[in-house]
Amino acid sequence: MAHNILVLPGDGIGQEVMTQVRRTIDWFGDNRGLDVNITEDKVGGSAYDAYGAPITDEIVDQALAADCVLFGAVGGPQYDTLDFSLRPERGLLRLRKDLELFANLRPAICFDALAEASSLKKELVAGLDIMIVRELTGGVYFGEPRGISDLPNGERRGINTQVYDTYEIRRVARVAFDLAQKRGNRVHSSEKNNVMESGILWKEEVQWVHDNEFADVQLEHILADNCGMQLVRAPKQFDVIVTDNLFGDMLSDVAAMLTGSLGMLPSASLGARDEATGKSKALYEPVHGSAPDIAGQDKANPLACILSLAMALRYSLDKSDDADLLEAAVDRVLGSGVRTGDIMSEGATLTSCTGMGDAVLAELSKSISG
Ligand code: IPM
Ligand code: MG
Repeated sequence: MAHNILVLPGDGIGQEVMTQVRRTIDWFGDNRGLDVNITEDKVGGSAYDAYGAPITDEIVDQALAADCVLFGAVGGPQYDTLDFSLRPERGLLRLRKDLELFANLRPAICFDALAEASSLKKELVAGLDIMIVRELTGGVYFGEPRGISDLPNGERRGINTQVYDTYEIRRVARVAFDLAQKRGNRVHSSEKNNVMESGILWKEEVQWVHDNEFADVQLEHILADNCGMQLVRAPKQFDVIVTDNLFGDMLSDVAAMLTGSLGMLPSASLGARDEATGKSKALYEPVHGSAPDIAGQDKANPLACILSLAMALRYSLDKSDDADLLEAAVDRVLGSGVRTGDIMSEGATLTSCTGMGDAVLAELSKSISG
């Protein structure tokens, strides 16, 4: 049966990296029998330009009905002065909320060939394999009350609320422990229980899930500031890191840079498993943003978006073998010294976004021709 995929390239380099993903999907259709129906639409600033809103109800409905969503990136300086509710980012945040994509998986893997491209010493990052599990539908991103109000004294007040309920912490903790069991069996849970009550609750609930359901997994609690520091000091001490929405946003950008470039990091955002179908709602997106400074120049690195497709093949489309094939092809492309500007190093061959797409397809074709 064909899988229904909603493709939302979004803004800036989202467009060009997604073009390379579409070519990769076509390759799997032609060569590996991948059967998909693709619908493409707009999100973020491009949706605002076309429809007057960063996402429409129709697009949310399509996302709810799809087997998965492939998302590019949103944002751009021309939208910075829009009313908050119309900003490109609201389109992405609404998708996460309406699809209840509470678990955001951000693997930070350092490909051997890229160990030199990291801003850290090669020996600190070579072989790095961390999974950050970021809570994605709660915390300060969505907490009420929020807003900017006028005070009687003529000043203004900006408010956001960090709030977590037991179930929100427990369900994302389960995802982290479950993943850890399939990897290094270790979880670091990160919060700020020294200054935030929500951090105390986070720590206690993660501990509860551990003690009652995953006692065999090694659990450590780490303050979020220390976690950031340890990530750049000795990143290989981590296996799985589970953390809230805001700390996860920051720590995953830090982790991305360890791998050489933000242009390398894919992500999967997953909802609860439907007991009847065994499926989860899912959205796949590169961790990088829309990079307006290089948009439209065919310079962007499409690998984070292509690796997000690999995650979609694995988690939504029942094609683990194809996911392995695609990840191995990316590994060989990097090994051959082909580089976009963001991961360029001495002696390597500079290529474009399209050139990187070509290189991945060429490696894929080689891998099935024996
Ligand atoms: C991310 C991004 C988003 C976030 C923005 C674009 C809303 O930074 O996915 O990490 O803050 O979650
Ligand atoms: Mg971010």
